[in-house]
Amino acid sequence: MENQERKKRIFSGIQPSGELTLGSYMGAIKNWVALQDEYECFYCIVDMHAITVRQNPAELRRRALEQLAQYLACGLDPEKCVLFIQSHAPQHAELGWILGCYTQFGELSRMTQFKQKAQQHQENITAGLFTYPVLMTADILLYQSDLVPVGEDQRQHVELCRDIAQRFNGVYGPTFTLPEAFIPRTEQGARVMSLGNPENKMSKSDPDGCVYLMDKPEDIRRKFKRAVTDSETAVRYDKENKPGVSNLLTIYCAVTGKTMAEAEAEFAGQGYGVFKPAVGEAVIELLRPIREEAGRLMGDKAYLEGIYREGARRAQLVAGKTLSKVQRKVGFIAR
Ligand code: TYM
Repeated sequence: MENQERKKRIFSGIQPSGELTLGSYMGAIKNWVALQDEYECFYCIVDMHAITVRQNPAELRRRALEQLAQYLACGLDPEKCVLFIQSHAPQHAELGWILGCYTQFGELSRMTQFKQKAQQHQENITAGLFTYPVLMTADILLYQSDLVPVGEDQRQHVELCRDIAQRFNGVYGPTFTLPEAFIPRTEQGARVMSLGNPENKMSKSDPDGCVYLMDKPEDIRRKFKRAVTDSETAVRYDKENKPGVSNLLTIYCAVTGKTMAEAEAEFAGQGYGVFKPAVGEAVIELLRPIREEAGRLMGDKAYLEGIYREGARRAQLVAGKTLSKVQRKVGFIAR
């Protein structure tokens, strides 16, 4: 009964392993804000995922709180969605363990993000890094999520989540809603690329190629001025031959709401010397109110604490129900 009447659900999260970036904003948060009226949304700060690579404890704590302030500053409304910290809902770890027993070693070995991260952290390839997609699966399934708004790089993980859910449902009968990835549709395929190396995705671990939501206008201006383009002069979308310019055009369109044709027409006959700073200014105007509001919120720790405490309470209510059901199905004695 409850399942038929309730609003459709959304779960998504971002790791506080670095500062929020324009990539996470355009790939995920922008959609989170757009979907919060229509769906019942759970938006999480996934600190348990962040420790799959070594973190500085004081920085991790600071970034988790800043991330909450930035979620709010981006327009997420705690009246409409549940904002919480992953480690505050112990059901994530508990379901993660159970689901790990329904996941194949081979499946996890095929995850491209694991392969990349294992390359980057060769001195510390932990079991947590390997089983990370199982924890992500638990995150999503605990809330019986219908949609998971993420960037393109997370598609494979959401597909694995579906496979695990389907397998579990096959053995024990309908238990989990099968989620779908919700990925922004842009010319570029929902991937914001690095400004310094447009063949790679914009990532928080690459300060020069990356715009952080909290960057000051002068930093943003400098990063766009230095953005890598090509030896032509035409501002034209051509992902294969002009990856840098195409990335800048994609950012410009996402930020201003213009179509690609409108953007190309606007810069027709103008060189990169005009184009690159114009994209920078558009991004500065997008981020200015977000930076200011997040800064203000960081001055009110009591308010932020109220939000994440209430978020944890509401998250646990839903997560607890799913976990009990799963524990019963696999044969645990009720507590
Ligand atoms: P994370 O923290 O790496 O990234 C957060 C979100 O931002 C998107 N994103 C991008 N989108 C487009 N272009 C980019 N350059 C870019 N960089 C980041 C990511 O696709 C993601 O949506 N495993 C997840 C976190 C997670 C999660 C979950 C997500 C944990 N549990 C459950 C959804 C549901 C991650 O590492 O995202």
